[in-house]
Amino acid sequence: MLRIENLVLTVSDPDTGAETEILHGNSFSVAQGEAVGLVGESGSGKSMTLKCILGIEPGGARVEGVVDLDGVDLLRASGEELRRTRADDLALIAQNPHGSLNPVLPIERFLVEGMTDARGVPQAEARSRAARLLADVGITDTERVLKSYPHQLSGGMLQRVVIAGAISGDPKLLLADEPTTALDVTTQAEVVAILDEKRREHGLSMIFVTHDLDLAAAVCDRLAVMKDGEILEIGTPEEIRDRPQHEYTRALMDARPMLYPPGHEAAAAAEAAREASAAALAEEAGTGAAGGVRGADPAQQEGAES
Ligand SMILES: Nc1ncnc2c1ncn2[C@@H]1O[C@H](COP(=O)(O)OP(=O)(O)O)[C@@H](O)[C@H]1O
Ligand SMILES: [Mg+2]
Repeated sequence: MLRIENLVLTVSDPDTGAETEILHGNSFSVAQGEAVGLVGESGSGKSMTLKCILGIEPGGARVEGVVDLDGVDLLRASGEELRRTRADDLALIAQNPHGSLNPVLPIERFLVEGMTDARGVPQAEARSRAARLLADVGITDTERVLKSYPHQLSGGMLQRVVIAGAISGDPKLLLADEPTTALDVTTQAEVVAILDEKRREHGLSMIFVTHDLDLAAAVCDRLAVMKDGEILEIGTPEEIRDRPQHEYTRALMDARPMLYPPGHEAAAAAEAAREASAAALAEEAGTGAAGGVRGADPAQQEGAES
């Protein structure tokens, strides 16, 4: 479905023109319905990999290699084909949901316009579908949420809205970039569970970016371990956990003391989140699929992120 070969990203300093290679010739693929985790610490090139797929790499950057989505070469396609493929087939769920939502428009407009503008769904039908979509991601007071502006809702609620919008577009591939990192731990677990459930229900492929190897192992079929712009190894969660090929992967598995100094409250919080995610995932068993509608243009979803 998605085939990435020899992906090289080179950025140049706007002042000096000096070039830096950020991604060093990575290859991996995502099969239909498969979830692949990109796992590595901050700065390893996870987000840049997604940006190359979405075509939103930094200005002046050069992307080489192959990014093939069901036969469309995203690095070489142009015009209408590229625009349509990106808008119809890809959906980004970024770390910060505020980046995906217009602050001056109520949630209803975000969801409804997504459907009416890009897919020509009639207004009234789009409105009722929007309510159903919200219910489908576990939002109970859908009428209140539809009328709310982004600043009136919690981060967890907004991320559910973004997931609803993404799923509604029937994309082929979800690109989730640390989608729960900005949320508190309980909410993290709920949002990961919703994302996982909706993805499976709709049979969507996903690239799930995270620094948390355990979390990635819980939601992904295969993991790619990244370090310094390079994919070190790719395998099933079991292979990565039981037979890591790289010292770095082992270090990542003991990442709690590496990411957080021992005793740091975030270490305990991360542990609680992992346990809660595992429990929530165990509880969730996919049921009933929502009608596909459409997702927002990935280019507009370029979110604020850290
Ligand atoms: N806009 C940019 N221009 C140039 N280099 C960047 C830019 N954004 C990030 N980088 C560099 O690219 C590398 C990979 O970053 P990124 O993909 O954001 O890492 P991750 O998502 O794994 O934390 C880092 O070394 C970072 O400094
Ligand atoms: Mg990142």
